[in-house]
Amino acid sequence: MNLPWQVTPELDTVGVFDFHGELKTPMTAHTKEDPITGELHFLSYSPFPPHLIYYTASPDGHITRSEIIEGAGPALMHDFAITADHVIFFDLPVTFNPAEQSGIPYRWNDDYPPRIGVMPRTGPAVVRWFDVEPSALLHSTNAYVDELGRIILDGPRYDRTSWESTWKWWVGAPGYSTVPGTGMTAYRWILDPATGKVSEQMTDDLVTEFPTIDNRLVGLPNQHSYALAFPGSGRSDWAVVKYDHTTGTRKVAELGRDRLPGEAYFVPAEGGTADDHGYLMSVVSDLGSNSSELLILDASNLDTVAAVELPRRVPAGIHGSWIPDTDLPA
Ligand SMILES: [Fe+2]
Repeated sequence: MNLPWQVTPELDTVGVFDFHGELKTPMTAHTKEDPITGELHFLSYSPFPPHLIYYTASPDGHITRSEIIEGAGPALMHDFAITADHVIFFDLPVTFNPAEQSGIPYRWNDDYPPRIGVMPRTGPAVVRWFDVEPSALLHSTNAYVDELGRIILDGPRYDRTSWESTWKWWVGAPGYSTVPGTGMTAYRWILDPATGKVSEQMTDDLVTEFPTIDNRLVGLPNQHSYALAFPGSGRSDWAVVKYDHTTGTRKVAELGRDRLPGEAYFVPAEGGTADDHGYLMSVVSDLGSNSSELLILDASNLDTVAAVELPRRVPAGIHGSWIPDTDLPA
């Protein structure tokens, strides 16, 4: 966590942006922008109390709300989710542990009760905590309220084995394993505020991470989502996967061995409204030839539209973004 850094449209660094002096803590990189109101939601989490602070900011960059979230613990909260009506916190059993020597002091903790917290976006900052099965979640795919009033939350969920093997891989520590098909798979939690009950299940067996959707649907029902996939054993063969959540089907575009993609960022086609009418953009690095390209896929069928050779290898950035010129200030 840090303060965010501001860059120009040409990517020149301006400096840190502290929301006009109004943000006094670091914040996480994973923000949620409400597609209807333009309001920005984000978190600050800490090993020490207060463990979790929730913020909102206006489109012109002023903090509009800050709430200490009572009851949250020292969990790794890399991401969260919103619906049109709720903020959703992941208080899951990867927690601060100074004994962890891999580089980031968080470790799976069997003694930590796993919970997902749901807070209304308006009114008092009261969180309702739902007990869930032990798991970890680095990135949420999306969340929304369905026609029955239940909260649907999707994300690539880790079990203990997959967390402990991939964590070493993420931080570059030796000793990671490549166990086929363990955890780190598409998963759905259904939280029912009427009954207080949770149902949860794996929705696909492909190993995935870095989920994306059409960001016009953040917090709203999405038909499709996308992710990076690790077919086979895991960490040397790569693919982009598209899920259709209404049919429960997937389509996979294999990239090949040692062709490492960044997040497949969805860009809507001009005038397109469907959440697969557009393009997926990913910077793909070929680890064998030390080169990179900007790969553009048709989101409807994952066919390659273009592969733009870049003048030099781009360090694997994992996440991605695309801001159209029309969204930039004149
Ligand atoms: Fe991330």
